[in-house]
Formats: sequence, C-alpha cells, structure tokens
Amino acid sequence: MIIVTGATGILNGAVVEHLLERLPASQIGVSVRDPSRARRFAERGVSVRRGSYDEPNALRESFEGADQVLLVSSNDLSADVAAQHRRAIDAAVEAGAQHVLYTSQHAASADSPYLPQTIHAMSEDHLAASGVAWTALRYGFYGDIADLVGPWHSTGAVARPADGPFFWVDRRDAGEAAAEILIRGVAYNGSVDLTPASPITLTDFASAASQLAGRQIERITVGDEEWIAGEVASGVPEAAARFTLTMFQATRIGHFAHSDAQLTELLGREPLSVSEQLADEIGS
Ligand SMILES: NC(=O)c1ccc[n+]([C@@H]2O[C@H](COP(=O)([O-])OP(=O)(O)OC[C@H]3O[C@@H](n4cnc5c(N)ncnc54)[C@H](OP(=O)(O)O)[C@@H]3O)[C@@H](O)[C@H]2O)c1
Repeated sequence: MIIVTGATGILNGAVVEHLLERLPASQIGVSVRDPSRARRFAERGVSVRRGSYDEPNALRESFEGADQVLLVSSNDLSADVAAQHRRAIDAAVEAGAQHVLYTSQHAASADSPYLPQTIHAMSEDHLAASGVAWTALRYGFYGDIADLVGPWHSTGAVARPADGPFFWVDRRDAGEAAAEILIRGVAYNGSVDLTPASPITLTDFASAASQLAGRQIERITVGDEEWIAGEVASGVPEAAARFTLTMFQATRIGHFAHSDAQLTELLGREPLSVSEQLADEIGS
C-alpha cells in the first residue's frame, strides 16, 4: 500500500488523484490532520487515516500497512519543521515502510542561501540514515503563480527584485511525476531533480505574459529595500518579506541554474509551460 501525507494540500492531493487513475483505491491511503477534509478520497475507497507530524504515535499508526510513504514537507512556520520531518520519517520507518519519499527542493543544500533548502538538506540526511530506501523529490519552485509574478494583468508589469535563472513547476505535473515514481517503486533511490529542461527568469514570464495579453508586459526590477518596504506597506511581516527576498538573491548567484531531464521522462511529455500556467491563472 502507498500512504500519502499532505493529501489535503494541492501538491500531494494531485499525487493521490494521479494514483487513483493508475491503481485500485484499496492500494492507496492518506494520512491527514483532519479526515473530514479528505472525504473526496474516502468516497472513492481510499483509506483515510488521521495523522499529524506533531503526534508521533498517531502518525505511526496512520502509516500501518504501508510499503511506501510519501511525506509532504511541512508548511507550519510556527513549528520546528526539521523536527517534524524527522518525526515523520521515523514514524514511517517504525511502521514498516520499505520506501520513504519526501517533497524536497531543487538544489537543496546545507549551505544554501535560501533558508528552506537547509531544512530540506537536513531532512534528506535523516532519510539517508533511515536504513530504508528513500527518494527526495527535488522539485523546482511551485506555488500560486500570482504570488511569484504579482498582478501583471492589471498593472502591465512584473515588478519584482532582480532575479536569475530558476525552475518553475506546475503542481499538477509535480503530482503526476511523484505518482509515477511511486508506481515504479524504489527505482529512484536518493534525490531526484524534477525540473523542466530549461531554467527561466522573470523576464521570460513577462515575455510569455506579453504574448498572452497581446500587449507589452514590462519586467520592472525593484530595488531590494524598496521591494521590502512595499511588501511591509501591503501588510506582509518584514521577516516574511526578507525570507522571500533570499529566494531572489539565491537565483541571482545561479544557485538554481542546473537542470535535469527526469521530469520530462517521468511525464512522457513536456511539462506545462509558463505560458500555459499564466493562461490558466487568468482563465483564458
Ligand atoms: N518548493 C517550493 O517552491 C514550495 C513552495 C510552496 C510550498 N512548498 C512546500 O511544499 C509543501 C506542499 O505544497 P502545497 O502547495 O501542496 O501546500 P499546501 O496546499 O499548503 O499543503 C500543505 C499540506 O501539508 C500538510 N501539513 C502541514 N503541516 C502538517 C503537519 N504538522 N502534519 C501533517 N501534515 C501537515 C497540510 O495539512 P492541512 O491540510 O491539515 O493543513 C497540507 O495537506 C508545503 O507544505 C511546503 O512545505 C514548497
């Protein structure tokens, strides 16, 4: 059986949808904090269990019967996220899983200039020491495209700090690739980069947006401190804004520049392009 955490979220919810297309529901389980939010899976025969990274015993019980466990990385900024991941990995191993997978990030490293990557690196180290087969799904960046590029359609501009090359993945593709890896089993032991073939920059986003809109969408480079001040003025806590700024700064030094063809190979097609994702965002 395959058990997936974070199935109430967008990324691992997509993984479960793809698994349901390929496997009998009796081979799929989800471990979620609030089972009432996973009704759409229960109704289709998926085993829904209650589990939280903050409750190790319940979490271990929720993994019972799993050969493979896919762990989402926590998004709980108030928690010790590295400890949550360690507990989740330990619970999966103690429950008898033979293969533990984890949603990591492209170019994760202990000395990364982008803070979440240091946590991913710690989680990968814990996986590597777990004694079972493991896979770190090192995705390119993903999320709500509007958060990345801002309200370009109304402002006519992508106004963000200076950036450099990085990868942007649609969570539907990310979920499909993870499902494919789960179905293939332990063929991917270790970390696997899941990025489109070529990196992009925010200038590329602006070009794609221009083509889509049929008018010029400018790429405006905002100074770092000017951008922080704008974010704070719009209600974003300064610490959160500075945290996000480290992403732009890391792209500038080429931290995310290298690519891999495995996402395309796993999907058996090109990943969704930036143009397709922008079109979805504005509903055209
Ligand atoms: N690489 C990137 O660019 C990038 C960008 C954004 C996020 N991320 C990471 O990727 C993850 C998945 O992304 P997403 O878009 O699917 O996020 P999402 O929709 O917010 O889903 C997050 C999931 O994690 C679960 N979760 C959070 N804390 C947990 C805990 N203590 N115990 C058990 N489950 C917990 C949530 O459960 P509930 O439904 O109960 O809240 C939810 O199902 C995020 O959690 C974040 O760590 C990466």
